[in-house]
Amino acid sequence: MERTTGILAGLMLAALMVRPAMAQEVRTFGLQADTALQTSGLLDYILPRFALKTGRRVDPDLAPDVALGVGQGAPIFQYGDAIYGIEMMTGSDPAARFVDWLTSEVGKKAILTYAEQSGEPFAAVNQEVAADVIYFEGDADAGHVVAAAHCTRCHKVSPEDRSTIGSTPSFMALKAIPDWADRFAQFYLLNPHPSFIQIEDMTAPFDPRRPPSLVPVEMTVDELNDLLAYVQSVAPADLGAEVAHQ
Ligand code: HEC
Repeated sequence: MERTTGILAGLMLAALMVRPAMAQEVRTFGLQADTALQTSGLLDYILPRFALKTGRRVDPDLAPDVALGVGQGAPIFQYGDAIYGIEMMTGSDPAARFVDWLTSEVGKKAILTYAEQSGEPFAAVNQEVAADVIYFEGDADAGHVVAAAHCTRCHKVSPEDRSTIGSTPSFMALKAIPDWADRFAQFYLLNPHPSFIQIEDMTAPFDPRRPPSLVPVEMTVDELNDLLAYVQSVAPADLGAEVAHQ
């Protein structure tokens, strides 16, 4: 008796699982999202739009076919400081369409529009995030002191500085150049600096036959690292007059 019920239930389950695939396409899928996302209102905004566009919708009773979560799968948007990604958990076709839609321009736009309308801190994961990658790990505050001591003679190193030698690029202008990190990391090898700057254990001593014409600057590797961390924190100038001027 019990066995028969079990088999029956099994058959019914099989029938249920097979039927949608045979009779009609599967149009629903399970979505997993954390509480922060659930309460943000984002899903209530985007899911109906996705459904309208594709005829596919989330069924809250289904086990997850796709997961949206912090640090999960490929990053797609930022919520506050958290970077959310999306990951398929089954081979579900409607879930795959949701992933395609959410990562498309239309999907991204829907997220940004929701952010605008609701004031919730959603942002696209884009180059801005990539540009924030830390290249240099020194102490930026200490680096500002180093820059003020050794570079302000010629460069404006922060927007507050009064302008110095007009033809010398400011750190803000240099920061707007895509390979600023390379240029700063080896500035002591680039003219005019080798004639007056030495980095302990990194640069050869000045040629005694050609003593520096300027007051020589000596820096340690630690100071250089701090300096690079400071430069990293400097906001680039608007690509405009200042850079064009070079
Ligand atoms: C005596 C003046 C002087 C001092 C002091 C000075 N610089 Fe420069 N720097 C220049 C000049 C002039 C240029 C522009 C060179 C050019 O355009 O060819 C320059 C260019 C640069 C560049 C761009 C290099 C390139 O070729 O793209 C960097 C980076 C730089 N300086 C960093 C620094 C740092 C960091 C300090 C302080 C530790 C410093 N400079 C101190 C005069 C100075």
